Amino acid sequence: MAAPTISKEQAEAIYSKGLEGIIAGETSICSIEQGGLYYRGYEIHDLSKNATFEEVAFVLLEGHKPSAAELSRFKGELVAERAIPASVIQFLREVGPALKRGTAVPMDVCRTAVGLLGHLDPDCQDNSGPANLRKAKRLLAKCPSIIGHMQSVIDGRELVEPERGGDPTLSHAANLLYLMTGKKPSPEFARCMDVSLILYAEHDFNASTFTCRVIAGTLSDMHGAVCGGIAALKGPLHGGANEAAMEMLKRIDAHIKKGGTVESYMQNAFETKEKLMGFGHRVYKNGDHRAPILGALGREIARKQGPDSLKWFEIGDKVQKIMLEQKKIHPNVDFPCGMTYFVMGIPVPQYTPIFVASRLSGWCAHIIEQHANNRIIRPLSKYTGEPVRSWNG
Ligand SMILES: CC(C)(COP(=O)(O)OP(=O)(O)OC[C@H]1O[C@@H](n2cnc3c(N)ncnc32)[C@H](O)[C@@H]1OP(=O)(O)O)[C@@H](O)C(=O)NCCC(=O)NCCS
Repeated sequence: MAAPTISKEQAEAIYSKGLEGIIAGETSICSIEQGGLYYRGYEIHDLSKNATFEEVAFVLLEGHKPSAAELSRFKGELVAERAIPASVIQFLREVGPALKRGTAVPMDVCRTAVGLLGHLDPDCQDNSGPANLRKAKRLLAKCPSIIGHMQSVIDGRELVEPERGGDPTLSHAANLLYLMTGKKPSPEFARCMDVSLILYAEHDFNASTFTCRVIAGTLSDMHGAVCGGIAALKGPLHGGANEAAMEMLKRIDAHIKKGGTVESYMQNAFETKEKLMGFGHRVYKNGDHRAPILGALGREIARKQGPDSLKWFEIGDKVQKIMLEQKKIHPNVDFPCGMTYFVMGIPVPQYTPIFVASRLSGWCAHIIEQHANNRIIRPLSKYTGEPVRSWNG
């Protein structure tokens, strides 16, 4: 039976710029309420305290909490798929000079690498549930190798164990850090990265996930949809905010070194209508549940490192206080993320690719859900152009 249609008048009545407040589809993967963020019913504080990223990725992709045997199987599948093909490594090496010059940026390189993986994936054109799940696991497993090898190329170092994509005994989070640095991370760094991946894994119909669903809704394939998701995530109003937030803190620090204050920087930002990166959210108006969780872990690392690291959190505290007092706007998760990754020594341009390494789990779950119960996503527009006119006058 055809689905009910909606009249133009009804559509105009519910029009909302940027789709604010509009329900654009159904999902059983995630819910966001002012009172909490839930992945398949599990609350984010509960998950970040008691689960690992691999468990969270399983819950998102396979739909339920894994048994010990299921988790062991899932982890084994990811480890077995960590290595990336030689042609993708070749691409990373060839784009190295452009990455060093800055004409290529890691998010774009990540997007192209995912496109290349699609060409080589035997399931690429198969949108069935089982094929989608296989592709999701491969993408999830391979993304840290893309990021890590890219960073090794930028740093002019040997790639870290490219034949097996790192160390099979390490978790997804620890292995990501190992691939990026060549050093096994401390348990504290590994756990902090793991929690950040848990927090970033899923967020219902955010811009990049919605992009993935729009692409999947045409019955296009998972790799194509993920490429679209990466392009959407790159923007500073979305995932790119974790990099932009840290760059902003560096600008504030430079302003202080020249005799200014956080207050004077902020006043100028308000006057020039500069957006403060890592603040505000379309859905959370009373604060982002994820921000304090990551902020506490990052601050603890900084505290142990000493004043040079802690200063970023102190500047951040002042920025937060002024934003709340003067604009009533709270930080989102990208604000503490920027500072946390910075004190962990992660290069700023890799912050958003790391977000990809996590959000892939949510994106792929949504692509699977869209393909399983599809209707093309095709909204209307509100025409604001010229009236009807004749070409010959
Ligand atoms: C996240 C974001 C895109 C949400 O956008 P939105 O729901 O369309 O909200 P708006 O941009 O319309 O913001 C509403 C008001 O708050 C202000 N505002 C929102 N976020 C702001 C910020 N980060 N800095 C300064 N002002 C901000 C807007 O200027 C606007 O004020 P106005 O009504 O006087 O014009 C927006 O808050 C933003 O750009 N934040 C910075 C980027 C960021 O951190 N993104 C990561 C999101 S997880």
